[in-house]
This record gives sequence, C-alpha cells and structure tokens, in this order.
Amino acid sequence: MLNIKMDLSKTKKEKPDEKNLSFGKYYTDNMFIMDYTEGKGWHDPRIVPYQNISLDPAAMVFHYAQESFEGLKAYKTADGSIQLFRPDKNAERMQSTHKRICIPEVPVEDFVQAVKTLVSVEKDWVPSEPETSLYLRPFVIATEAHLGVKPSSTYMFMVIASPVGAYYEEGMNPVKIFVEDEYVRATPGGTGFIKCGGNYAASLASQVKAHDLGYSQVLWLDGVERKYVEEVGSMNIFFKIDGKFYTAPTSGTVLPGVTRMSCIELLKKWGYEVKEEHIAIVDIMKAAKDGKLEEVFGTGTAAVISPVGELRYEDEIARINDFKTGDITQKLYDTLTGIQWGKIKDDMNWTVKVD
Ligand code: COI
Repeated sequence: MLNIKMDLSKTKKEKPDEKNLSFGKYYTDNMFIMDYTEGKGWHDPRIVPYQNISLDPAAMVFHYAQESFEGLKAYKTADGSIQLFRPDKNAERMQSTHKRICIPEVPVEDFVQAVKTLVSVEKDWVPSEPETSLYLRPFVIATEAHLGVKPSSTYMFMVIASPVGAYYEEGMNPVKIFVEDEYVRATPGGTGFIKCGGNYAASLASQVKAHDLGYSQVLWLDGVERKYVEEVGSMNIFFKIDGKFYTAPTSGTVLPGVTRMSCIELLKKWGYEVKEEHIAIVDIMKAAKDGKLEEVFGTGTAAVISPVGELRYEDEIARINDFKTGDITQKLYDTLTGIQWGKIKDDMNWTVKVD
C-alpha cells in the first residue's frame, strides 16, 4: 500500500460550467506524482498542486517516446457518491503496455490507490450534470537525460483529472467515419495493442485528412493486407450484421478496450452472438448494400458508446440505419452509463466506490 504524501493546493480554481465541459479542456486543482529510479523502484507517491513539470531537454520521453497512458472516469451517482468503472482493467492494460516498451510496471493496487486517492481529494470536481464525469489520465514518462537509445533508468507516473462532457461534438448523435486506406495504424509484432502516445501521433495525418473531408474519425484497416477492419481513432468498433455482432480480435494490433470488453460481456449476457474475428471492409460495405448492416457503433472510455451513421470507403458511402442510433447501440449506452452513474444495479460488479 502506498503512503501518499499530501501537499495540496492552497487555492481553488473556478469550476467550469458543467453544461459546457466538452472534452479535456479543464484540469483540477491537484495531481498525483510518483517517481521511479532504477535500483530503488517506485517511490515518493504524492498529491501536489496541479502545475507545470520541469524536465531536462534530453529526457528520453521527448526523443524516443517511451511513454504510456490510460483513460478512465469517475462518476457521481444520484445519491452523491462517487465511483470508478473497472479501474483494475486499466491498471492491467498499463502493465501490458509497460512490458512492450520496457517501462517498469506499476503494481495494479498502487495504480488503483493513486487514482482513488486523487478522486477522493478532487471530489468537488466530479460533475453532476447528465452525461458528465471526471476523466482520469494516468500516464508514465521516461525522464532520464540520455540520447542513446535504451530504456530510461528513471520515470514519473502521474495522474491528472479533467471534468468532461461528450468526446465528440456530435454528443450521442451518430458520427461519420472515414475508412483509411493510405496509412496504417499497426502491424503484427508492433505496438497496436498497447496504449502509448506514439500510436496516436502516427494517427494524426489520417485524422486531419478525415476531418478535412467532413468525417469525425478514421477507421483503420489491418496493416498487412489493408483489408480487414481494426479500430477507430479513439475507440473500438462493432458491426451488427444480420443479427450478429462482429468486432476485430485484440490479438496484437487492436487495443483491448475496457468498454469493448464490457459491451461483449453485456451482449453475450443478452443472448447475442459476438464474433471477435477479422472482417473485411468490402464485406461490410456489401452488407450495407444488401440492407444487412443493421448497426455500427464505437466503444471507448472517452467516446462511451458512439453510434456510427456513415462509413466512407474509397468512393463508396454506406449510410447506416438511416443515420439513426440503433436499438442495441442505445440499449448498450443506457445500460453501461446506467451502471456507471449508479442508475442501474451493478449486477456485473464493475463499479468501485471512492470514499
Ligand atoms: C480513452 O477513451 O480514454 C482514450 O484514451 C482515448 C483517447 C485517445 C481520447
């Protein structure tokens, strides 16, 4: 168990209007920090005022992108209590990220304790307007000043918190997605299955292209054949075709999303068949033409459940469910957010109370 030192901010920032939070614009008064030094391990866990950090310009994170991050949320329930959603899953995923890019692992219980303690300190920042939450961003950076390529010998683990509303401007309305067939996101043996900043840097050119064409995000195809659908910029993606659900397997190139995993569990509980398999984009476009592509939705912590109303692949456009949110997409959204905001009994045991 961490012995977290508290050196909290003496001043309090003005809180933003909860009706206009959007995503990732505001930060709370304090943040969590813990250091790592080779030979000593993780040490000096503390909560300090939210502030700039000072790093040597040669810090390895700036040059070789040895960095990991996570995203999870704290929710205020109707009775005023605060809860997290499956924080241990984020902690475990961070460990798998760290194994791949040679960062020392943060113990699961320390990750969860750090997040819970910061949320407890920042209780007043958890918004209560519908569809809002306190987004938590745990991340680790390599801090050793060294220009040779090797794993850093020092790191910082930090958690910052940001009150948020919907990730997309569209809110819960369907989004338009552009299928990227020029650049790829991940190849087998690479880093597609982990959450590291470099994956997102490499996605920006496609995202800008998609935005310029009027699309919210890109849908990535596999990096070998550019044929099979994988994931969207900031979410996993599901297709309902002829009554069955399909989503890409997370073996190697796709991020194992916590919301993805939770949706699969819910869909199976409701009796649906969910196939985690490679599905070709041409088969999806054909299903759309044949009237069999019933629903498409993305899943993610930031994006929650996001209905997809249009897919563009090359010069072809598939309009899904008349650009309306599908019934199961809506049911998943209602169930998942119902559990998260404490409106529905948590039969799945997914929520964790913050004292
Ligand atoms: C999340 O859903 O928490 C993410 O990390 C996606 C992010 C890139 C906004």
